[in-house]
Amino acid sequence: MILAVVNQKGGTGKTTVATNLATLFARNGADVLLIDADPQQSALDWQRDRPAHLPAVSVIGLPAPNLHREIARLKTKYERIISLFLRSPANRTPSPRRGSFKKSSKKWPP
Ligand SMILES: Nc1ncnc2c1ncn2[C@@H]1O[C@H](COP(=O)(O)OP(=O)(O)OP(=O)(O)O)[C@@H](O)[C@H]1O
Ligand SMILES: [Mg+2]
Repeated sequence: MILAVVNQKGGTGKTTVATNLATLFARNGADVLLIDADPQQSALDWQRDRPAHLPAVSVIGLPAPNLHREIARLKTKYERIISLFLRSPANRTPSPRRGSFKKSSKKWPP
């Protein structure tokens, strides 16, 4: 399953939602990959500060234009993929008609 957490505005809770979903799935035993394609890549900071004894969540930062290609390759390796990005023309993230957004089975917000 691929989940996309997307919003056009900054500071709307994307990182909070994505890291909480990743934690929930990991605690339930899933092999989770969190891809942060937001320019700040704060999910990488979150992972750095996460205590080592908690269930593992893999986190990678990727430039948004490469997301659709990478997700196609990674989706066979993980049970859950959460991709996180700010959708705005300014940072050239994919439009909803293209790439990882289209491939996602669920979007948040719907
Ligand atoms: N449901 C919530 N209720 C109250 N505060 C929240 C909630 N979700 C997130 N926040 C707070 O709102 C702020 C912004 O959240 P977050 O960093 O997750 O947003 P973001 O969309 O990832 O921001 P950015 O665009 O800067 O990456 C943080 O201080 C976070 O703690
Ligand atoms: Mg963020």
